[in-house]
Amino acid sequence: MTGEVVMRAVGITKTYGATRALKGVDFEVRRGAVTVLFGENGAGKSTLMKILSGVERPTAGVLELDGEPVVLRNSVDAAARGIAIIHQELSLCPNLSVRDNIFMGRELARGGLVVDDREQNAQTARLLERLEEAIDPRTLVSALRLGQQQVVEIARALAGEARVLIMDEPTSALSGSEVEVLFGVIRELTAEGVAIVYISHHLEEALEIADHAVVFRDGELVARGDAGDIDINWVIANMVGRSAGDLNPDLREEFGEPVLTLEGVSVADPTNSSRLSVDRLSLQVRAGEVVCLYGLMGAGRTELLEALAGRLPLLTGDVTVKGTRVHRQTIAERIRLGLALVPEDRQRDGLVQTMSVGQNMSLASLLAFVRGLIVSRPRERSAVERGVSDVRVKTAGPSAAITSLSGGNQQKVVIAKVLMTEPDVLLLDEPTRGIDVGAKAEIFALMAREARRGLGVLFATSEIGEALGASNRILVLSKGRIVREFDTRTALREDVMVASGENVEQETGAAQ
Ligand SMILES: Nc1ncnc2c1ncn2[C@@H]1O[C@H](COP(=O)(O)OP(=O)(O)OP(=O)(O)O)[C@@H](O)[C@H]1O
Ligand SMILES: [Mg+2]
Repeated sequence: MTGEVVMRAVGITKTYGATRALKGVDFEVRRGAVTVLFGENGAGKSTLMKILSGVERPTAGVLELDGEPVVLRNSVDAAARGIAIIHQELSLCPNLSVRDNIFMGRELARGGLVVDDREQNAQTARLLERLEEAIDPRTLVSALRLGQQQVVEIARALAGEARVLIMDEPTSALSGSEVEVLFGVIRELTAEGVAIVYISHHLEEALEIADHAVVFRDGELVARGDAGDIDINWVIANMVGRSAGDLNPDLREEFGEPVLTLEGVSVADPTNSSRLSVDRLSLQVRAGEVVCLYGLMGAGRTELLEALAGRLPLLTGDVTVKGTRVHRQTIAERIRLGLALVPEDRQRDGLVQTMSVGQNMSLASLLAFVRGLIVSRPRERSAVERGVSDVRVKTAGPSAAITSLSGGNQQKVVIAKVLMTEPDVLLLDEPTRGIDVGAKAEIFALMAREARRGLGVLFATSEIGEALGASNRILVLSKGRIVREFDTRTALREDVMVASGENVEQETGAAQ
């Protein structure tokens, strides 16, 4: 083990009502090293990180900083002691600028009075430059794509110049090249002596940056290892207590009639209306077929799916769902037509934070439960229970607050919610964001099951393994157009990546 211990958690237990999120955990954070936490959805990783960063108090146990016991009163107290956290669920204010988000709570004053905008702009620009992200500091956060928002979240944590920097899923919305940049910054920070704690469900990626690793299972720390002694099999075996599930679901090879047809579809770039995100695109998905939209960030995947779901306007083109033309219908009307989307940004578009798990699930499909003017509660309840067990949501029950779920389990609720609308065409944008390796296989199996029942599935991913393993056909998107099409029975990994414009040499070894 390298690096002296900067921070230590001793015998930490955390209970929420009847849920025991952590059970007597001992954990060390080392100077100048990256410690990676692995574990299934709901294993307790984020809970421990919230305790280390003063966001939550432990039910039992103590924290030590530089060998001395310490009580962190809140996150401001922790920040003052040099502990910063990048949250799994983005915590930015969408209606403020990038700069104001970064300096919120620590505004720079000049002469002790006025906030020094110019200096804050300059510092923000330097942070973004370090992260190689060309964003104007005055841009509103709401105008940024999800991955850029995540970069801003990282910049905010870096601004505090912390000596313990906790990163809870910092790369879940980043592109491959953005991850490389972040890893460069992490290496600089550790060389300066900063202690990093890192969480990710991209196992290979996390192993690449790890000096030490620990694995959590059901609230307990069940394994520790140094980078040189561990590999992905060690991680998976300790995470799930068995070997990894097969990512490749059982797909149909015979398909029915087209359920979704696009002809000449264009969508304006929501951040710059003089450009096109989707450029005269045509495609078809047949009943029983699973089609993957593969491409780099900015290829137009999200804009295409959002336009189909009615979240963005179509500029040109025709869309038909099972023979019905989709044009000006609202999101709700499209859901009734059988077209439903699992959005990329679950915090903004997928979930209502103040509602329970059950309410969130039945929200979109409420119409289906309406009898006259009264919602049929028993039907709603049984459908919710089916949803919870279908996608295996780890929750205390349907009445639990959605915010009490771990990140990956919230994602599963969004998927269950959309399935409850009984769509004919299921659209999913990066459906496995924050999902653990076992649950990924379950979600793809679920998609395949729905396809076997006659649904058409169109999903976007930036993970080549998912594209090849979980679909019948891959459409490679670049600059808003389909540049190549592959049958996954014969497609070669390198060919698909090259078609998308990816740097193959760099990426092939690192994909899962
Ligand atoms: N505020 C809360 N109220 C009730 N239960 C909670 C709360 N926060 C977390 N939990 C529960 O604690 C357990 C651990 O959750 P945690 O968020 O730490 O998981 P995780 O390992 O980070 O998972 P993921 O990989 O999905 O992010 C889960 O069962 C979760 O539902
Ligand atoms: Mg978490």
